[in-house]
Order: sequence, then C-alpha cells, then structure tokens
Amino acid sequence: MNRLFYQMMGNQSINGMIKKELRKSALLIRSGFSAQQVADASDQIMNKLLKHPWYRQCSTLFIYVSMDNEVFTHKLIQKAIDDGKRVCVPRVIPGKHMEAVPILNMHSDLAKGFFNVLEPVAGLPSVSPVEVDLVVVPGLLFDREGYRIGYGGGYYDKYLTSIAQHCHTVGLIFQALLIEKLPREAHDEKVMLVITENEMIG
Ligand SMILES: Nc1ncnc2c1ncn2[C@@H]1O[C@H](COP(=O)(O)OP(=O)(O)OP(=O)(O)O)[C@@H](O)[C@H]1O
Ligand SMILES: [Mg+2]
Repeated sequence: MNRLFYQMMGNQSINGMIKKELRKSALLIRSGFSAQQVADASDQIMNKLLKHPWYRQCSTLFIYVSMDNEVFTHKLIQKAIDDGKRVCVPRVIPGKHMEAVPILNMHSDLAKGFFNVLEPVAGLPSVSPVEVDLVVVPGLLFDREGYRIGYGGGYYDKYLTSIAQHCHTVGLIFQALLIEKLPREAHDEKVMLVITENEMIG
C-alpha cells in the first residue's frame, strides 16, 4: 500500500499537492472580485506602501506587473518612475530564472511576453539582484508569517535567495486571500512585510 502510494505520488510532497489545490481555490476566489473591488483595495494597498520608509528610502525597486485580479501595480509603477526610482520589472527566462529589468516608460518599455504577462521589451538590460533595495512580490495567497503561494514556477523563491542582505521584501495581497498559515516547503522564501487593504503584517 505504502509503495503504491509513493509510486502514485512520484516526487511530489504532500505540501506540494496541497499547494496545487490551494492555487486553484485562490484563483477561483480571485475571479469573483469585481473590477471596482480590485481597484479600491489596490489603491489602499498602494497608499500604504508609498508611505512606508522602505519605499521612500529605496533607490532600486523591483516590482511585478499585475495581471488579471492581482493587486494592481500599474499606478504604483508609474508613481515610482515619477518619484525618480530606478524601477525594475520581471523578465522570466522560462525554465531558468527571473531577471530585474529597469524600465523608464510603462508603455514603450513593456510588451506581452511569457504567459501573456507584460514584460520588458527585448534588448533592455537587467540589473544584478544585489542592486535591488526593495522587492514587491506577487502571490496567489500569503500567510501572516510572510509565506506565500505563487503560480508554481519557483521563480520568486529562486530570486529571493540572490538579493542583498539590506534588501527589503514586501508582499501585496487582498485581505480575502490572506491565510493564517500556509503549507511550506524547504525552498519557500518568505517576505518581510505583507500589506493588505486593512493590515500591515511584519
Ligand atoms: N531556490 C530554488 N532553486 C531551484 N529550484 C527551486 C528553487 N525554489 C523553488 N524551486 C522549484 O520551483 C518549484 C515550484 O516552487 P513553488 O511551488 O514553491 O512555486 P511558487 O512559490 O508558487 O512559485 P513562484 O516562486 O514563482 O511564485 C519547486 O518544486 C522547485 O523545484
Ligand atoms: Mg514557493
């Protein structure tokens, strides 16, 4: 029985399987948010981040470009460019890793790439992870200890192992997708601060 069970599971850990199910549930919950709900809560989250010393003090910001019903970051990206920050967005090299690429213009420097996500256009050079002062991390779910579940590529888990010691990390998530405690695997990296429309946890 045990042998059969492990054969069926392959190399999957129990937590890995639970994470898959949680991903599906999170996507379902998220698809039920109205555009107005997403816009209003995203504004509240953005305003909290903009007031935070980690944002105020950062020179190089690495921030995801939101899609679907993720916490909306397009306004935040424009604001950070206007504030004179060096604003980097992710470029995924499929099957390999993720890079932080500085952009100057939200429109001309971004184009649809891997998985239909807006990415920096080809040719723009990346910066080393050790140059980044603040990473704004996306997630399908976060918990109160800063652990998260992403889309399952492991790109952020990998990236967060290569940032400098002084670098701060922040997760943005709607309150409805903040969980008490998520399952975690050995490779999962947590963020230092989680911001929702109602709370800052860190
Ligand atoms: N530091 C790492 N080095 C190599 N592989 C890694 C690393 N971190 C994660 N991975 C790989 O990525 C896979 C997916 O990880 P996980 O399920 O935690 O994704 P996720 O956290 O949802 O994704 P993401 O980090 O892109 O948001 C893991 O099974 C693992 O093989
Ligand atoms: Mg992970």
